[in-house]
Amino acid sequence: MTNEQPDFETNIEDEDTLTNRQGHPITNNQNMRTVGNRGPATLENYDFIEKISHFDRERVPERVVHARGAGAHGYFEAYGAAGDEEISKYTRAKLFQEKGKRTPVFVRFSSVIHGGHSPETLRDPRGFAVKFYTEDGNWDLVGNNLKIFFIRDAIKFPDMIHAFKPDPITNIQDSERFFDFCASSPETFHMVTFIYSPWGIPANYRMMQGSGVNTYKWVNKEGEAVLVKYHWEPKQGIRNLTQAEAEEIQAKNFNHATQDLYDAIEKGDFPEWELLVQIMSDDEHPELDFDPLDDTKLWPEDKFPWMAVGKMVLDRNPEDYFMEVEQAAFGTGVLVDGLDFSDDKMLQGRTFSYSDTQRHRVGANYLQLPINAPKKRVATNQSGGQMQYKLDRAPFQNPHINYEPSILDGLKEAEQLGKEYTPMVKGNLVRESIDRQSNTKQAGETYRNFEQWEKNELLANLVNDLSSCDIRIQEKMIALAEEADEEYGRQLREGLAHAKSGGSSQKPLGNREGDDAPKNAIENSNEAEPY
Ligand code: HEM
Repeated sequence: MTNEQPDFETNIEDEDTLTNRQGHPITNNQNMRTVGNRGPATLENYDFIEKISHFDRERVPERVVHARGAGAHGYFEAYGAAGDEEISKYTRAKLFQEKGKRTPVFVRFSSVIHGGHSPETLRDPRGFAVKFYTEDGNWDLVGNNLKIFFIRDAIKFPDMIHAFKPDPITNIQDSERFFDFCASSPETFHMVTFIYSPWGIPANYRMMQGSGVNTYKWVNKEGEAVLVKYHWEPKQGIRNLTQAEAEEIQAKNFNHATQDLYDAIEKGDFPEWELLVQIMSDDEHPELDFDPLDDTKLWPEDKFPWMAVGKMVLDRNPEDYFMEVEQAAFGTGVLVDGLDFSDDKMLQGRTFSYSDTQRHRVGANYLQLPINAPKKRVATNQSGGQMQYKLDRAPFQNPHINYEPSILDGLKEAEQLGKEYTPMVKGNLVRESIDRQSNTKQAGETYRNFEQWEKNELLANLVNDLSSCDIRIQEKMIALAEEADEEYGRQLREGLAHAKSGGSSQKPLGNREGDDAPKNAIENSNEAEPY
C-alpha cells in the first residue's frame, strides 16, 4: 500500500479549498440539503451525515485514571555515567552509554482521579510518564511526582480507585470513602502523609519531581542484574501549594498547569529535569527494615545515593492535543535491552493493565499511531484489527509469509546481544502479603522532615477532611498517626477534638506567624527541597 498521490489537474480546487474526507470539494458548508429552504432534510445528505457522524465520534473513552493531562516533546541526553561510576557496570541499555547521546522523548503529565477537564489544583498525585524513542525501540517510564505509592499489591488498585473517585450514587468525591479505604489499608499512611501536605498540590508540572516509584532492574553485558529506582529532579526548583493558595488559583484558572507548561515552551523557556537512579544489589536485603520491592517505601539516600545518568529537556509543544496527548499510550511493560522488571507486585500488575486498557481505549492498532510507534523500523507478522492502516513488514519480506519460522523470505528472530538474564525463581504459590511491612515508620520520618508550615498544612487539611468522617475511621487514622510519630498523632487528635467542639475545622493547628510560609500564592508559592 502506498500514500503516493497522483497530480490531478482540477479547476475547482485551490490549496485552501475545503473537502470532505472522501476528497470531495465542499461547495456549501452553511446549509444542509433540504426540500425547499424550510426543510425537511433528506437522508442522502452525505456531506452533512459524514460531518456530524464524525463529530459524534470525536472522543475516545477517557483514561480510567489520569484522564486530565498535558504533554510535550523533547529529548533525553545521557551523561555516559552513573554518578562517578561507569554506567556499563550496571546496564547495557544503549541510550545511557555515550556522553551527550540524545534520545527523543514525549512526556505526559497528569492528575489522577477526576475527568478530562477537572481543575489542575486538586489534591492528587501527579502522573509523570516519559516515552523514550530509543534506537532499540521504545522505553516508557510511567511514574508519578511522589516517590512512593498508596498500596503495594496490584489486586487492591481497583478498590483504591473506586474509593478515591466520586461516589457511585452522588457522583461526588467523598473524603469518608477515601479515609475508609486508607484506615483499613495501613500501608497507605506514608502516601496519605505526603498527599495531605503541600506536596499533594504541586504548583505546576514544571516545578515538580518525578519518580518511577516501582523497583525495576538493570542488566549489564554479563547478564548480571541490580535493583534500580528512577527519579527526575526539576532544574526549575520544586514548588508546592497550600490549600488556600490552590483555591485562589482555581478561582481564576483551572487549567493553570497545562497553561504554564505550554506558555513556557512557546516562549523558549524549556523545562529540564535530571534523571537520577538509586541502585541496590539484587537480593532481599534482610538488613533493611523494609522490602526493596515495596513501593510504599523511600530508599534512604545515605545508604543508596542518587546517581545522575542524564537530563531531559522539553522543547516542543504538541501540534494537536488529541492526536498526541490523548492518544498517547504508556506502559510499564515497554522496556529495552538492558532494562528489566523486578518482582515488585505492583509493577507486575501494572504491566498487564496498561496495554490491556489501551487496546480498549485507543484500539487494537494503537501502536501504529505516530505518537506511540517507535522511531525505528518495525517488522512484525501481526496485522488486522480495527483501524490498521499500514503493514509493519520488512521491504524484502515475501507478503505471503506472515508467519515465523519459515525457510522462505520471512522475518527472522534477532540475535541475543549480551548474556541473557535468567533469574532463578522458587517458592510455593501463595496469597500472602510481604513480611517487612513497617507501615508507619517512614511516615513518621517524613512528618519530622517537613518544615513547620508543611506540618501545619498537613494537619489542617487532614482535620478538615477527616472531621466529617465516621468516628471509627477517625480513630483508626489517629492510631496510625500516633504509631508514626507521637506529635503527629497528638496534633491530629487535638485538631479533630477542636473541630468536633465547634471550632473551625479549617483552622491551622500550628502557628504560621513568623514561619517561612508565604502569604501570596501566585507571586510567592512555596519552594521545597528535594526529599
Ligand atoms: C496496580 C497498580 C496500577 C494500575 C493497575 C494502574 C493502571 C493504570 C491505567 C489502567 C491507566 C490508564 C492508562 C491509559 O488509559 O493509557 C493508568 C495510567 C497511569 N498510571 Fe497507573 N496504575 C497503577 C499504579 C500506578 C502507579 C504506582 C503509578 C506511578 C508510578 C502510576 C502512574 C500512571 C500514570 C503516570 C498514568 C498516566 C499515563 C499517561 O499519561 O497516559 N500508576 N494506570
